[in-house]
Amino acid sequence: MDAPFVYGRIALDMNYTDRDKETLLLKNNFLNLINTVIISPRRWGKTSLVNKVKNELGKEYRKELIICHLDVFNCRSEEHFYKAYSNAILKTTLSTWEKFIAGSKKYLGRFAPSVSFSNTAQTFELSFGIDMKEPNLSVDDILDLPQILAKDLNKKIVVCIDEFQNIHGYADSLAFQRTLRAHWQTHDKVATVCMAVNGIC
Ligand SMILES: Nc1ncnc2c1ncn2[C@@H]1O[C@H](COP(=O)(O)OP(=O)(O)OP(=O)(O)O)[C@@H](O)[C@H]1O
Ligand SMILES: [Mg+2]
Repeated sequence: MDAPFVYGRIALDMNYTDRDKETLLLKNNFLNLINTVIISPRRWGKTSLVNKVKNELGKEYRKELIICHLDVFNCRSEEHFYKAYSNAILKTTLSTWEKFIAGSKKYLGRFAPSVSFSNTAQTFELSFGIDMKEPNLSVDDILDLPQILAKDLNKKIVVCIDEFQNIHGYADSLAFQRTLRAHWQTHDKVATVCMAVNGIC
């Protein structure tokens, strides 16, 4: 007999039930560019909820709204975070690899970016050519990337960051959180939606 429920994967389409109020609230936050943090214990449906809103608004507001998604579960340092953040934003906003290469040079040229291709996975990936541990290095260009792209493309951008609690393990997590706040609060064309686990992660 086929199992009537899907468990352990993101709940999609027919498998998604309820959460009507939360869906409406989150849609309004996306459209009004309100920064949002969704916190719950594991398996309470954070990713599924954000994914549902992303899919529904992505279709309806395709012309004016870009929604990026990244999962920082495997990002064990600020450097990894910056790489995942830049890749997700550039990949979603600049659809082809030609635009991706041009965009990485235009917007992140200071970081000496290089792009590698994977034929098997049919994907491409940006890496930084300079040492991100350099103490005087400013990461403004990376953290302001969605705001600058939103202005250039004349669109709104929502950046959804999954497993955000992971940044707690970074070397100087508090300083990193302050840096993020300092940048994100100045963005008027971008909203950041963070999903985080409380309790044991
Ligand atoms: N609205 C929903 N309707 C039906 N099933 C759901 C719904 N939301 C979540 N689920 C079920 O719960 C499981 C956990 O959902 P999801 O992965 O979205 O939670 P999560 O809070 O992001 O979990 P984690 O903290 O581990 O990342 C899914 O595999 C799915 O089976
Ligand atoms: Mg999740």
